[in-house]
Amino acid sequence: MPILELKHIRKEFVSGPRTVTALGDVSLRIEEGEMTAVTGPSGAGKSTLLQIMAGLLKPTSGEVKIDGQDLGAMSRKRSAAFRRKNVGYVFQRFNLLPMLTARENIAVPALLDGVKPSEESLLALAESLGIEDRLDHFPSELSGGEQQRVAIARALVNDPRILFADEPTGNLDSGTTGDVMEVFSRLNRAGRTILIVTHDPAVAGACRRVLRIRDGKIGGEEVSS
Ligand SMILES: Nc1ncnc2c1ncn2[C@@H]1O[C@H](COP(=O)(O)OP(=O)(O)O)[C@@H](O)[C@H]1O
Ligand SMILES: [Mg+2]
Repeated sequence: MPILELKHIRKEFVSGPRTVTALGDVSLRIEEGEMTAVTGPSGAGKSTLLQIMAGLLKPTSGEVKIDGQDLGAMSRKRSAAFRRKNVGYVFQRFNLLPMLTARENIAVPALLDGVKPSEESLLALAESLGIEDRLDHFPSELSGGEQQRVAIARALVNDPRILFADEPTGNLDSGTTGDVMEVFSRLNRAGRTILIVTHDPAVAGACRRVLRIRDGKIGGEEVSS
């Protein structure tokens, strides 16, 4: 069974008299342990696709299943709890809370689940991302690469089975991009399923599978060995 399955996903945005079809009939399967890049021109529907796969956005029609479970058939409360357990999401602009320290930002998804992460587990996570010395700093006191790694730590704090990242290296220099990709590759080698939206050929090149999105459809796919 695939860990993630999309069947005939369509997404329309209605703004006034205009309807934008962001996705038209996308079907795909992702197996557990895959590391997949999603590429394509600006406006092609990549972010919309990632948010629908992660259950953050409801499709206009079609079905999303994670681990065989239909997200559309769950109550809001159930789907929020299911997402917190199974899905980590790294937003393009980090979306860190400015009034919280790095440590507090990382703990937010666990606290939402009523769990306070232990100091040891939080420190181990921070060490794996090389931000253990930055935990008591506020986002404004961190570099872009450090903020990005805090956002990744936050996405991982509940130990999700799938990690989604929307252009996670878009604001980073090439050295920091390499560091972040090393983190993703390490997580993937440990068995985690990863989906990354990217414009960067070096990032896509680090992924075994590359999906190309064009005008709201899957325009092609490459799998390297
Ligand atoms: N909330 C929204 N309201 C209206 N249109 C939207 C919204 N989000 C995305 N779109 C439109 O859907 C299309 C796909 O957007 P998006 O998924 O963000 O593309 P990409 O991430 O590939 O650049 C674009 O035409 C965009 O303008
Ligand atoms: Mg986008």
